[in-house]
Amino acid sequence: MPGTTTNQRLLDWVAEWANVLTPSSIHWCDGTQEEYASLSKLMVDQGTLIPLNEESRPNSFLARSDPGDVARVEDRTFICSENEEDAGTNNNWREPATMKLEMNQLFAGSMTGRTMYVVPFSMGPLGSPIAHIGVQLTDSPYVAASMRIMTRMGQQALDVLGNSDWVPCVHSLGAPLADGQKDVPWPCDADNKFIVHFPETREIWSYGSGYGGNALLGKKCFALRIASTMARDEGWLAEHMLIVGVTPPNGETKYVAAAFPSACGKTNMAMMIPSLPGWKIETVGDDIAWMKFGEDGRLYAINPEAGFFGVAPGTGEDTNANALATLSGNCVFTNVAQTEDNDIWWEGLTDEAPARLTDWRGDTWTPESESPAAHPNARFTAPASQCPSLDSAWEDPNGVPISAILFGGRRATTVPLVSEARDWEHGVFLGSVMSSEKTAAAAGAIGQVRRDPFAMLPFCGYNFGDYFQHWLDLGMKEDAKLPKLFYVNWFRKDSNGKFIWPGFGENTRVLKWVLERISGSGKAVETPIGMVPTPDAIDISGLDLSQEDLQTLLSVDTEEWRTELALIEEHYASIGERLPIELTNQLNELTLRLNA
Ligand code: GTP
Ligand code: SPV
Ligand code: MN
Repeated sequence: MPGTTTNQRLLDWVAEWANVLTPSSIHWCDGTQEEYASLSKLMVDQGTLIPLNEESRPNSFLARSDPGDVARVEDRTFICSENEEDAGTNNNWREPATMKLEMNQLFAGSMTGRTMYVVPFSMGPLGSPIAHIGVQLTDSPYVAASMRIMTRMGQQALDVLGNSDWVPCVHSLGAPLADGQKDVPWPCDADNKFIVHFPETREIWSYGSGYGGNALLGKKCFALRIASTMARDEGWLAEHMLIVGVTPPNGETKYVAAAFPSACGKTNMAMMIPSLPGWKIETVGDDIAWMKFGEDGRLYAINPEAGFFGVAPGTGEDTNANALATLSGNCVFTNVAQTEDNDIWWEGLTDEAPARLTDWRGDTWTPESESPAAHPNARFTAPASQCPSLDSAWEDPNGVPISAILFGGRRATTVPLVSEARDWEHGVFLGSVMSSEKTAAAAGAIGQVRRDPFAMLPFCGYNFGDYFQHWLDLGMKEDAKLPKLFYVNWFRKDSNGKFIWPGFGENTRVLKWVLERISGSGKAVETPIGMVPTPDAIDISGLDLSQEDLQTLLSVDTEEWRTELALIEEHYASIGERLPIELTNQLNELTLRLNA
């Protein structure tokens, strides 16, 4: 039954694709609770979902993916702009027509024997001037159900769409079913994935994977890769950033956004429980921020998502109690371990592992087992509305005004706990040279330092040179009242390889300094890389941290930074001709300051 829409272009598009994909039936998602219940039942019957203990984890499910489909696949992700130069060295590029020809062959008949779900969704509060509508076709009920948690999905999105434009998203698992063929719990085409974007026509085609950002196309594909190109064209920002409201005791709430690479602490910071008495930290978003200018010249941010697709391992009562409370029910857990009483477990959930588990592959696991019980990129999918720290303005259609933006990553050395950019242009420089040790969020080797500008390396839908220029241009905008820019690193290690900074809720102490810098009271010293707090400017009251450790955390070592310079030069050279001259100048000035 077609959804209640008179949008003829949408109806025609669905019909055209049904001809190519040849599903056995078409289901227009209305987004109701009843629909969610029947999708879950279908997946339980098929073995895709395992219902969890109704008492400890009501209306929640466990999914085990195919072991070949566990994370985003950056080497299978493509930006297909007409000119290769427009995609930049930061992206894999294919000529759009050639890619479409190749993918059409994969899509032909790829939904045979399956239902095609038509999933209309709004990225952002329904009807918000900052929000946008997408429609995803998918043959995965897991994706359709996940989209209901992660976005405002269903008839309400069609109502907002009316006869206007949407971003078309086509997704197939690439696992057609012949007549009578038995299905598997996690169908996919693991060796043949394509995550493809056509920025000029604002289309997304995804084939072969059912996991996370590869398959929930509203998230990284739309809200970052396609939206970043829309933002460049229209003068706004689509960023890989969390958004929090920070309220000092008896003070005014300031909103802070922060760009950290995948699995580097966005969800944790978004939900953190402040360690300092009287402070409040409230969650607006944990992964993506869309920011547009308000009439007062400030940047206003919305969280385009409605749920959290968060890293499970490491999420525990002492690190992120708000996340655990969010997971009390109505969630999907993917690739976590299963306990004997049919609940969930992962490394870091409790200090001691249960004596016996079923691991993410479905095998028996004991504490003696050699591999982790949960996959390092195991994830929870949870409704944001269940988060106890949710900010009252999180669904404000006008967004929240951003006072500061933090950049950061995982660096065992070199990068101090916090520094403030000298000005906007210097801040853009800092964002453009961001670096981090690689995590399990994407396939590939873990731990290597890589440059990840603005945490957007896997997510910027166009040439990084142009992207940096876009950031610089915002700084030139007349009447703009821009946020202050900072760079943080919670991950500096001592000579024994232990994190020096306690992190998590203690990061409040850094936010306190950030707010003091905004109001003009925070103390800082100038260093070659920016303004760094004086040791007495970071409130460490009640914290078991020696002055020596604090000095290490705040130190800017000239020798280490000279080594870093060489890496930055290499990084800049790799961007190519479109690297803005302002940034080359910034690098030259940094070199001079380090050699002074
Ligand atoms: P994506 O969802 O992939 O974008 O990740 P994310 O940036 O939201 O990362 P998340 O908050 O899920 O954290 C990932 C890992 O970093 C977890 O194992 C956390 O325990 C760890 N982590 C987060 N914050 C801190 C911190 O302040 N200090 C330390 N040492 N570890 C942290
Ligand atoms: C990330 O990798 O940054 C994520 C997970 O947030 S995914 O949605 O798979 O991209
Ligand atoms: Mn992310």
